[in-house]
Amino acid sequence: MALINIKIEGYPYQVEEGLTILEAAKLCGYEIPSLCAYNHGECSKGSCRVCLVEATGARGLVASCVYPVAEGMEITISSPKAVEARRASVELLLSNHSLNCQQCDKNGKCELLHVAKITGARENKYIGSKTPVTVDEISPAIVRDTSKCILCGRCVARCSNAHGLGVLGFENRGFATIVAPAGNRSFATSPCIMCGQCVNVCPTGALMEKSEIAKIDQAKKEGKYIVVQTAPAVRAALGEEFGMKIGTPVTGKMVAALKRLGFNKVYDTNFAADLTIMEEATELLDRIKNGGVLPMITSCSPGWVNYAEFYYGDQLDHLSSCKSPHEMMGAIVKSYFAEKNNLDPKDIFVVSIMPCTAKKGEAVRDQLNTNGNADVDAVLTTRELGDLIKRSGINFCALPDEEFDADLLGDYTGAGVIFGVTGGVMEAALRTAYYVLTGKEHELIKFEQVRGFDGIKEASIEIAGQTINVAVASGMKNAKVLLDEIRAGTSKYTFIEIMGCPGGCVAGGGQPYVKPCFLPNEDPDILDTFKAKRAQALYSEDERQAVRQSHNNVQIQKLYEDYLGAPNSHKAHELLHTTYESKKRFK
Ligand code: SF4
Ligand code: SF4
Ligand code: SF4
Ligand code: FES
Repeated sequence: MALINIKIEGYPYQVEEGLTILEAAKLCGYEIPSLCAYNHGECSKGSCRVCLVEATGARGLVASCVYPVAEGMEITISSPKAVEARRASVELLLSNHSLNCQQCDKNGKCELLHVAKITGARENKYIGSKTPVTVDEISPAIVRDTSKCILCGRCVARCSNAHGLGVLGFENRGFATIVAPAGNRSFATSPCIMCGQCVNVCPTGALMEKSEIAKIDQAKKEGKYIVVQTAPAVRAALGEEFGMKIGTPVTGKMVAALKRLGFNKVYDTNFAADLTIMEEATELLDRIKNGGVLPMITSCSPGWVNYAEFYYGDQLDHLSSCKSPHEMMGAIVKSYFAEKNNLDPKDIFVVSIMPCTAKKGEAVRDQLNTNGNADVDAVLTTRELGDLIKRSGINFCALPDEEFDADLLGDYTGAGVIFGVTGGVMEAALRTAYYVLTGKEHELIKFEQVRGFDGIKEASIEIAGQTINVAVASGMKNAKVLLDEIRAGTSKYTFIEIMGCPGGCVAGGGQPYVKPCFLPNEDPDILDTFKAKRAQALYSEDERQAVRQSHNNVQIQKLYEDYLGAPNSHKAHELLHTTYESKKRFK
């Protein structure tokens, strides 16, 4: 892109042609308030008017988030006219807002309050009737409260950009306009895959995960034996809740915090990620050998499983029958672990800390229970764990590094850690498949071809004289490409990894918000780089592990010897595998 000369507040700058005034000003170190604009135009195109500035060549004030810079343009942010107009825009938004900040889970992370502060919007000048309110809390994963919605359209754009889905849209007209699933339905009766990507971009508390912190308080009151497990991606992002730079790994501090919160056992879901690989690799090799349905597709992302059930109900036999790792962990805790510790499974309460809102929906699936007990009893997002730690008064940053509990289910390998990033499950499975087919460990361990953040990655891997064609997709827009090939009978792949959220769990719908206005010490391009930074935290933990292949996890070997027999055994199937159901009616 060519560089052009502009002036901001009288100072000269060179910026790339094609940028909006808002983007150019940000790169030059100015903060213009903004609400409806998100990354690369993910917005409803100039609806909120809180970013108004003066610019030469324009008539009147312009919305800087949509107005492009031009050669010789002089931009004034601080003129009394612009300052007053921005304040009036925010006051108008607040006039139709519930303003019950004390009860709002977004308090402290709310962009509306942030712009109210920086524009000086203090008075409630426009008192009148408000848009009728809907609070939709039926979904197990997401709560929608229209009294906090500013109609910015970020959620609508994100659902479409990430997945090609139009679950959310503008309903009604004029003053009665709201954002809702089509037909003003509840999330629970819409084809929403519960991924939480819309929650991640919502500037206010209008879209939030459904908090399950109270369930844990209740389990403690009832004297339950509480086992907590943490998914790999959580450790790569939890530090952000406490002001640490994006990509700071905090595994040891996270464990120390969980121990101080009073959980009876603190385990790593990575143990079960290794177990998933043992079951899934065996299932894949069995399908290859015995003419089973191929390509086989991973099943550890509940956002993806929801999508498959809604939109590709005719292709469900391609999904691996493996439960996702945290569900496997729950099943093993309530069987093997309970027996070894003389505990009644009914007295055990399993909590999963996940980067994901869809896991909340997964935990209440009828298919995911062991002998009538739900495998997992409560799911907290990374953000909720951050809230729980803050509420307890623990000084997270000052905590020492501590280790996960080591008994029975404590071992994990580097293969388990990389489950948290797109391509990680594929890479972990290939490490074990290579060993099973050749009897040798793969020399490099790494499978670079499936790393990185392209929406679709593919590779042909030579193992023991066989070529295995694999593909990896994240975000449902990309998954759709691979699924349409399968439906048409033209897929060339043997094994496919699909993750619901673009980039995988590091960018899951339950991860800390990446809101540049609250991240003054991050790079200006952080919205483009945060996934890679979090992924690097996981790849470096993989490299630090002495054992990096799931089949070499000693406690997994013992679990098979003592309890399950062998991968894909009858008992393993009972505990670790599941079924799916077409939900075509929502199509
Ligand atoms: S969304 Fe923001 S302004 Fe609205 S109630 Fe919540 S914290 Fe307050
Ligand atoms: S949770 Fe995901 S699928 Fe559902 S509305 Fe939000 S972005 Fe769309
Ligand atoms: S729900 Fe949130 S993201 Fe969607 S339009 Fe309302 S305020 Fe914007
Ligand atoms: S941020 Fe520019 S109009 Fe909303």
